[in-house]
Amino acid sequence: MKHIDSQLHVRGTSEYVDDQRPPEGMLYAAVFGSPIAHGNITALRLEKAKAAEGVRTVLTIDDIPGSPVLGPIIPDELLLARDHVAFRGEPIVLVVAETRVQAEKAVALVEVDIDPLPVVTCPREAHAAADFFGKPSTYQIGDVDAQWDFCAHVIEGSCDIGGQEHVPLETNRARALPRENGQMTVWSSTQSPYAGQKAVASLLGIAEHLVEIDVKRLGGGFGGKEDQATHWACMAALGAHATGCPVEIVLRRHEDVSHTGKRHPYLCDFKLGLDAEGNLLAYEAWLYQNAGAFADLSLPVLERSLLHATNAYDIPNVRVMAASCKTNLPPNTAFRGFGGPQAMFVIESALAEASDQIGIPRDELQKRNLIETGDQLYYGQVIERCQMQKTWDEAGDTYDLDEIKRSIAAYNDSNFSTKKAVSVMPVCFGISFTKTFLNQGSALVHVYTDGSVAVTTGGIEMGQGVSTNMAAIAARSFGIHPDRIKVEATNTTRIANMSPSAASATSDINGNAVLLACQEIRESIFAALQPEMDGELGCEGGRITLNGNPSKISWEEAVAKTYLSRRRLSAHGFYATPGIEFDNEKGWGTPFAYHVYGTCITEVTVDCLRGTYKVDAAKIVHDIGRPINPIVDVGQVEGGLVQGLGWMTMEDLVWNDEGRILSGALSTYKLPDIYFCPDDLQVNFLEPEDNPPGPLGSKAVGEPPLMYGIGVFFAIRDAMKAFNPKATIPYTSPMTPERVLMGIHQHLPAPHENLS
Ligand code: MTE
Ligand code: HPA
Ligand code: MOS
Repeated sequence: MKHIDSQLHVRGTSEYVDDQRPPEGMLYAAVFGSPIAHGNITALRLEKAKAAEGVRTVLTIDDIPGSPVLGPIIPDELLLARDHVAFRGEPIVLVVAETRVQAEKAVALVEVDIDPLPVVTCPREAHAAADFFGKPSTYQIGDVDAQWDFCAHVIEGSCDIGGQEHVPLETNRARALPRENGQMTVWSSTQSPYAGQKAVASLLGIAEHLVEIDVKRLGGGFGGKEDQATHWACMAALGAHATGCPVEIVLRRHEDVSHTGKRHPYLCDFKLGLDAEGNLLAYEAWLYQNAGAFADLSLPVLERSLLHATNAYDIPNVRVMAASCKTNLPPNTAFRGFGGPQAMFVIESALAEASDQIGIPRDELQKRNLIETGDQLYYGQVIERCQMQKTWDEAGDTYDLDEIKRSIAAYNDSNFSTKKAVSVMPVCFGISFTKTFLNQGSALVHVYTDGSVAVTTGGIEMGQGVSTNMAAIAARSFGIHPDRIKVEATNTTRIANMSPSAASATSDINGNAVLLACQEIRESIFAALQPEMDGELGCEGGRITLNGNPSKISWEEAVAKTYLSRRRLSAHGFYATPGIEFDNEKGWGTPFAYHVYGTCITEVTVDCLRGTYKVDAAKIVHDIGRPINPIVDVGQVEGGLVQGLGWMTMEDLVWNDEGRILSGALSTYKLPDIYFCPDDLQVNFLEPEDNPPGPLGSKAVGEPPLMYGIGVFFAIRDAMKAFNPKATIPYTSPMTPERVLMGIHQHLPAPHENLS
């Protein structure tokens, strides 16, 4: 079974928000954003914009009928700024005009006076001023301080980890349509329809049931639309409310980059204690998160960092401290991995530093300390059904790590200006929203009398294949071909109070809900058949089975019979993940239903004269439980890997001291393309094994593979060291070609010294 959208995508006929035929009289909105990063607004002049051709209305915060306040955790953000701006690009004015270009021309005529205030872009500076969201928190186990004296080696260092722009193909957008009796329908490119519904209702001062959010699919979300799509749904709804006409807003790429947040950059310090054999005894880390100007999802992101600080390693004494630091950048937000990748980069850096200082190869340190079933993590959860070692060993064997190392050593011996290296990256990632209450899913399943089926869930299709998975699950449950299943748009009138599609848990929670709904319908069908068919009934191969054997009754006949006997052919399924609980304050409990494991071997060649590099190979063994659809899963593993490679190598967000982004266009912000992808990219799954919490025994797959990309940093670093063993290479990401070049050419031996 292919991704059910693949034909539509290839033909360009899949519908996104602005592909639907525009309704009669639709208007277009554009936003005027703050030209500076921090200051007080002293004057706003809108006359010229209002007089511009085609302009219907120019709106400010004073035109919002309900509450202008946004913010999923801390309500600290205004849809349109009133008298203070805290990042460059912060929306101040919304212009609505007859065409998009007219709206944009009018935006250019808005005049604002702002008294500048000092701009902070560095989280350490915010930390020194105690300018935080929430309060700094600590998760710990054991007694770190008591350990250092007993450690044979204590390693210290710091990391400077870059952010990442989401760059979904489809930028943020929404279309709003005013309806009878004050109702509003919004087509929104969002991962979180319910957040949009709530926000639009509160913005307009109306009840939630008057707002309908509809989402067919996204052209990518990657976390960027988990919370920050809400703003654009609100902008469209505000414009529609003010004009009484349908209103659409579609951000251009540069607007999307300047108005919305990204993956959080982190500055971190680490301290790692080991015994003489390389066993990890104690680990301490400080994480300074660059949150940007408003809280957004920074606190849950930081919490996930706190829960991934030891990645795949068992360390008996751990203390992780983290602070969400307020700066004058766009509010940073969810991005695939949700704070996990940053925390994992820190422990991997600590291991690299330990390896450099002690002389034990990094992969030996890693392997020696991998977690196992029964280990208790520093936040209380006890690891069950651990597959960490298995993926590590299988990667080493399948891809012959020893041979890779031998051939790299031989290559490096006989080549001067290009060097190769290999790294091994284990990943252990927790599945479930860390906010326990979000772990609930719903599905509405209809069977029509011709036997065709419609499934609606709270899951958003953003390319990751959740619709394909939902169709596969319903098809499996009813024993019919997936072609008979239609997966409907996600809509708040059919599914209420849905959680965002995020945390890799969308297929898990919504898929389990689909199973429950299908089960209810199966029972209804069996009840209709039972008078004549005595025995155990089932659905398989398009027929009803009796005691495991195909009967004469087809699925269609059974459905028709059920209808005529006036039994239900629709059901609503509701699922709440069992067995999880977590005290966010104490940092203790069982936050995750399970963990996903995997290992990636990365091989690189670095051109040490130019600083450029090539990722020769990425070879993965990944734990997927019993896959629902291996084609979709491989796509997720490959896509996640490449996004992680980009984050670690070339995606460089450069801000100047005034909080202005200098790499805000695709000409300056480099993305990995097909040529950058490893020539040799292999993905193997562990032998299928049921994962009890996942639908049909599957495991979540969306985010974990991104963290395989971290391996490339350490492979490049090792290749640099092969060229210049004296180079001190900071743990600064991304490892751009400039950084490689500058890194290897420091402390170079004098010309008379022998380079090799
Ligand atoms: N894959 C595609 N093609 N597009 C996306 O936007 N988002 C990622 C991941 N894979 C994304 C993707 C993120 S951030 C998450 S949390 C998961 O998919 C969400 O979907 P899931 O819960 O169904 O895995
Ligand atoms: N992951 C992703 N998104 C989230 C989470 C999480 O753990 N919590 C709240 N939103
Ligand atoms: Mo994904 S960062 O949880 O949307």
